[in-house]
Amino acid sequence: MAETADRLICASADLVDSGKSVRFDITAASGRTVSALVFRYQGQVFAYHNSCRHIPVELDLADGEVFDLTGHYLVCSMHGALYQPDSGRCVGGPCRGQRLTPVPVSEQNGQVFCETATAHCHMENQR
Ligand code: FES
Repeated sequence: MAETADRLICASADLVDSGKSVRFDITAASGRTVSALVFRYQGQVFAYHNSCRHIPVELDLADGEVFDLTGHYLVCSMHGALYQPDSGRCVGGPCRGQRLTPVPVSEQNGQVFCETATAHCHMENQR
């Protein structure tokens, strides 16, 4: 597993319930870099690959905003697909029934970590 400091994504306080997500990169074992985002929903922290299941474009168009106005769905900024924040399942739009790719994360001592053993996480220019 990567060193703890390498797995740090952000402070817990950076993630407000149904608020702006924090983007980060994962470097997979293959060496490929994947964009991901982490957010808080109903008190829990979730993370997914930042890639819509309709067309592989970033969900948030680089600004970290992924929740719809209700705060209960993630919305793709391209064509408006709606995803359940806790399951990643698409419940409306062209990719209905498909799921976002989850990224295991944890929250410890006021910090949010990526838990993928083969991943190296770092903050993008988010703050
Ligand atoms: S690219 Fe996301 S709904 Fe079309």
